[in-house]
Amino acid sequence: MAAAAPVEAFKVNFYVTTPIYYVNAKPHLGHAYTTIVNDVLARFHRLEGYDAYFLTGTDEHGDKIVRAAEKEGRSPREYVDEISALFRAAWPGLSISNDDFIRTTEERHRRVVSRFMDLVNRRGDIYFGEYGGHYCFGCERFYTEKELVGGLCPDHGVKPEYISEKNYFFRMGNYQDWLIEHIRANPGFIRPERYRNEVLGFLREPLEDLCITRPKSRLTWGIDVPFDDNFVTYVWFDALINYISALGWPDGELFGKYWPVAQHTIAKDILKPHAIFWPTMLKSAGQEIYRHLNVHGYWQIGLSKMSKSVGNVVEALSMADRYGTDAFRYFLMREMAFGLDSEFSEDRLVERHNSDLANDLGNLWQRSLAMIQKFSAGRVPVPDGLEPQPDDGEWLGRAVALAASWRQAFGSVNPREALALIWDHVGLLNKTIDSEAPWVLARDPARRGRLEAVLARLAGGLALVSALFWPVMPTTAENMWLRLGLDPGAMTSDPAAIAALLAHGRPLSAGQAFFPRIEVPGAAEGRARPARAAAHGTESPGPAKAAPGAAPAEGLLTIDEFRRVELRVARILAAEAVPKSDKLLRLLVSLGDDGERTILAGIGRHYRPEDLVGRLAVVVANLAPARLMGQESQGMVLAASGDGRLLLVTVAGEMDPGARVS
Ligand code: MSP
Repeated sequence: MAAAAPVEAFKVNFYVTTPIYYVNAKPHLGHAYTTIVNDVLARFHRLEGYDAYFLTGTDEHGDKIVRAAEKEGRSPREYVDEISALFRAAWPGLSISNDDFIRTTEERHRRVVSRFMDLVNRRGDIYFGEYGGHYCFGCERFYTEKELVGGLCPDHGVKPEYISEKNYFFRMGNYQDWLIEHIRANPGFIRPERYRNEVLGFLREPLEDLCITRPKSRLTWGIDVPFDDNFVTYVWFDALINYISALGWPDGELFGKYWPVAQHTIAKDILKPHAIFWPTMLKSAGQEIYRHLNVHGYWQIGLSKMSKSVGNVVEALSMADRYGTDAFRYFLMREMAFGLDSEFSEDRLVERHNSDLANDLGNLWQRSLAMIQKFSAGRVPVPDGLEPQPDDGEWLGRAVALAASWRQAFGSVNPREALALIWDHVGLLNKTIDSEAPWVLARDPARRGRLEAVLARLAGGLALVSALFWPVMPTTAENMWLRLGLDPGAMTSDPAAIAALLAHGRPLSAGQAFFPRIEVPGAAEGRARPARAAAHGTESPGPAKAAPGAAPAEGLLTIDEFRRVELRVARILAAEAVPKSDKLLRLLVSLGDDGERTILAGIGRHYRPEDLVGRLAVVVANLAPARLMGQESQGMVLAASGDGRLLLVTVAGEMDPGARVS
């Protein structure tokens, strides 16, 4: 990504990590959320010209994993390989752009854990002692009497086992005063503030030393303790070190480059190990402390009407397949206030999709492009050639102010706020269309200058908002840039730079609508805002003729429903019979700037393939692909049938392929 600032030669580094996930469960919504937040932070920094490094991975040792493997009748090794692969495979489908994926069973990690432990030991911070306590296998930790709730583990609600054994301990208590001071001196160290306060609250009680080993008589699935063969390392002591083992601690190049700017993002469930164990471990080993701990809340699964299908966190993740990765990422980032809990429901997702993406953004896009096509022959009026307008300065000022507050919002880990700012601008652009009424300006040659300025503002506005939401919806943003005639590789958040790029851009290309409305009978539909009318119209994008929201008579379509069907003129480039079918022909058609499609048409008994080549047809261009006779069909050609005859639908004269039929 091209950077507005800082300049390439002085790239600033950025390093962000997810927790490494336990491999005793399949990837689910909670894991996806944290991973997406980190992806958004990494992408935001890349867009801003930082050299960003993004790490995720899996946590594979300990009792919990051994028990899960036993339950499946598998060896721990087989089991961890399988589940870790599921995590690795889940991320590309969610557009996760991690640079590395670490597994704690990898040699590169085991080596670093031993070395780190040895160092802490040489510092005199490890001692051998006897400990008796209430051990929860689910949490893999001992609880004090006081921490139990009614004698049960506060997280799992089960009675812990009383275990007494000899183990090694880390003198965590030695670093309590230092840690309190560090947190006080660095207000953004743990954020948001509620979690900083929570940690300072824990630290009001004396910090107990941390038991960091397990005897091999009880557990062998772990990393050997370097100074005593009879023990393995406690899974948390091992796991936290992944954040530096992946960078090649202590002398790897990546470590030198990224560790000084490290940020960890986690949910509130693992606050204590990250905010207390990890900094004290680092301090003891004489290492720099990470910069920020970003802590978010928990997704709860609601039981609203439409959410019956989403009963748990694993099913919630399947919503990404159902509604698309970008819409899913948008929903998660827009819905959760970072730091607080949120409720996940499918109907909320559909509501957000329809109101923010289909209505606000989708219609802005369709209307703007249609007007640039119609009034400016598909080219963005060039800024240099524009007639100066009295409000040019104000317009640019707004865009610059937006980019600045967006930067501030993402920089302080507030994706919801960043998106709200962007959508305010989308609203402003939609209002601009309504108030400037380009279709009226177009009727008056004396107002050509204003018309061109408005069209240029719309194109610039779309390029800016899509760049700003690129960290959250990368695929949509890149498509929008391409269709605006811009190179996504040059994406930038700088409005002036965008204007310059547009000045040298290629012509716009029309294409399928972004985020077509999801029609859901019942629950979600009733609550979603009515769609903005006349999305593609270039004459009057004002309200529809029918009263907004009025239901059509039964069996009839609303104008919005009809407009969702994208009809286009297509040129048939090639045609051939589909083997083993007397009915199907395989057509290769051109949609002009929108490229070529393969369409299977059931017209083989009425047309010879060679008679079709070169003809214009009308196709449904936004039909979901379907498979017929083992081949993919990417649309449908229209034909009229009657009297046993079938005739292709075409246009009454010559027309460029890709033209809309409405
Ligand atoms: N293996 C440890 C972490 C070690 S890091 C050195 C672990 N793994 S976990 O698989 O249980 O993942 C916990 C993390 O998953 C949470 O901190 C959070 O990032 C994510 N989430 C799991 N469930 C969640 C929700 N319901 N909501 C939001 N995030 C949640 O703990």
